[in-house]
Amino acid sequence: MLSATITSLNVVCLVLLLAGWSAIRRDMRDRHRRLMVTNLGVAVLFLVLYVTQVVLEGHKRFPGDDWVRTVFLSILGTHTLAAVTLLPLVPTTLYRAFKQQFEAHARIARVTMVIWIYVSVTGVVVYWMVNHLRPGI
Ligand code: HEM
Repeated sequence: MLSATITSLNVVCLVLLLAGWSAIRRDMRDRHRRLMVTNLGVAVLFLVLYVTQVVLEGHKRFPGDDWVRTVFLSILGTHTLAAVTLLPLVPTTLYRAFKQQFEAHARIARVTMVIWIYVSVTGVVVYWMVNHLRPGI
């Protein structure tokens, strides 16, 4: 139940990221700022619940030991590595935005945005693979 809630928050983040990117591509700066700050709030809530879940329940093992598990572990590995790179990228992206260094902000933000979207999408894939791909096992 908790993991479904956490994944829903992840999907909300994904929608906000795409909407925020679409807004700035159309030069709607104020809308972009509001969407990205909202996204940050949802992301922090996501992180708090995720850590709580790991502490309370630990990690769920992927059912099965075949090649599908290898695919799963590869996706999980790239997801985790990409998520770790967000730890310095997100604060730097925000710092440059709030300091109004918008050219420098946009340069790093394009990288941050692509990685964040990758992390969000693979987060949903990982959740689905662990919980729903093999319901019988
Ligand atoms: C982590 C949060 C944020 C992310 C991931 C992000 C992402 C982006 C991206 C990808 C662009 C470049 C769009 C393009 O050219 O394709 C951009 C530009 C911009 N962002 Fe953000 N943004 C964030 C937060 C903010 C905040 C909080 C503000 C306002 C205080 C802001 C203001 C701007 C402005 C004004 C531009 C246009 C820069 C220019 O073209 O001169 N952003 N942002």
